[in-house]
Amino acid sequence: AKKAVLGPLVGAVDQGTSSTRFLVFNSKTAELLSHHQVEIKQEFPREGWVEQDPKEILQSVYECIEKTCEKLGQLNIDISNIKAIGVSNQRETTVVWDKLTGEPLYNAVAAPVSPGPSDPVAVVPSGSSVPAAGTSSVWLDLRTQSTVENLSKRIPGNNNFVKSLTGGANGGVHCTDVTNASRTMLFNIHSLEWDKELCEFFEIPMKILPNVRSSSEIYGLMKISHSLKAGALEGVPISGCLGDQSAALVGQMCFQDGQAKNTYGTGCFLLCNTGRKCVFSEHGLLTTVAYKLGRDKPVYYALEGSVAIAGAVIRWLRDNLGIIQTSEEIEKLAKEVGTSYGCYFVPAFSGLYAPYWEPSARGIICGLTQFTNKCHIAFAALEAVCFQTREILDAMNRDCGIPLSHLQVDGGMTNNKILMQLQADILYIPVVKPSMPETTALGAAMAAGAAEGVGVWSLEPEDLSAVTMERFEPQINAEESEIRYSTWKKAVMKSVGWVT
Ligand code: G3P
Repeated sequence: AKKAVLGPLVGAVDQGTSSTRFLVFNSKTAELLSHHQVEIKQEFPREGWVEQDPKEILQSVYECIEKTCEKLGQLNIDISNIKAIGVSNQRETTVVWDKLTGEPLYNAVAAPVSPGPSDPVAVVPSGSSVPAAGTSSVWLDLRTQSTVENLSKRIPGNNNFVKSLTGGANGGVHCTDVTNASRTMLFNIHSLEWDKELCEFFEIPMKILPNVRSSSEIYGLMKISHSLKAGALEGVPISGCLGDQSAALVGQMCFQDGQAKNTYGTGCFLLCNTGRKCVFSEHGLLTTVAYKLGRDKPVYYALEGSVAIAGAVIRWLRDNLGIIQTSEEIEKLAKEVGTSYGCYFVPAFSGLYAPYWEPSARGIICGLTQFTNKCHIAFAALEAVCFQTREILDAMNRDCGIPLSHLQVDGGMTNNKILMQLQADILYIPVVKPSMPETTALGAAMAAGAAEGVGVWSLEPEDLSAVTMERFEPQINAEESEIRYSTWKKAVMKSVGWVT
């Protein structure tokens, strides 16, 4: 017998840099009923290059949907209760495909986004404006650095030309939403349209760009292809679409001016809602579109602090050094010692992002002695994630004027209790985490469920009753916290200038 469920269900695809997930929530409580996750490969064809296979990404989405539906079946939950599907995704990563065959022309590649003094960085399809040489690379990829440097020489007199505007169909629907569009450096975040001047500057033909829609509206209906056997989802509206960091902001219900969240994924992204105002940072943060929850709804903006390497450092310890077999083991190693014993690890694998924006930086591990072992290095890696968050929180506080009284956090890494305690100690404010860390997917599901014509999610706090909060208070004294942070800053300085 099919189990009775308390309300309509909403599914969400969370396509991140390290993995793809499909999750199904009860829209009346936000209870996570079932999910499936598939890790995806990253290819490093050359130093500084990071690519992903778009077909693998698509296949992983199909696989996650199918497996989640199977699991729901095993729980006797009828999948016809799924009334809408939302999508959240890694941002900046770019794919160019043939519009007739739907075949990608190359792996997925991105350009970094920077607010730097001459706001020089752009998303450019692999150094070429010709889609036939198309490509996709992921957001960590550094290959467009020289393209960016060349472009920045062509920026007209006003150095803020790009920053002031951007803040930084194959038989189907070729569209994206305002949050994703705002990460391309081709989109005017004031008029909410592709910007002719920017497209000309970056030599991107406007006709290859998708239609830009709000983050919450019906874009199309699920169509079952030969790759997707979960036939019962046929016809379900896809009605939510947000870049993953915006989705997490929605999932954390940060709808008020001044509310902020930090998501610990492959990187770390702290976003603070600045309401209907576009606030430009003086401390290395980006201005981005936060969300627009409906065709006729207003757009909200956010200030964003981005850390390139967070969860990625744990994956590196697993895949490159082999000191752990699974990512979860990092907590056990760190717990064994409870200190880095003076070891500092700056994981600047792709240069330093906010607030430094220093492409010449590379990773360093320093403060080593003969006593140092893998447990200390594991601890230092976790501390690095926390110090980097402190750097962007400090910048945020300076830009906003009013310091955050606590930090709302989410993402898979927040299951690590040592990390959460370290974060509270290093920020010296409480850290508050939801019992269900998949806030990114939750935000995409909320946007999908709230869309006009779907209307199964109200976006009110009572519809999140299944999510409880856990609070971590600082446990060390303020002086110790400051000493560790200033030593970290010394280590950061040593990481700069390795690449010229
Ligand atoms: O801007 C890149 C960001 O969207 C990637 O997110 O979750 O893969 O770290 P994540």
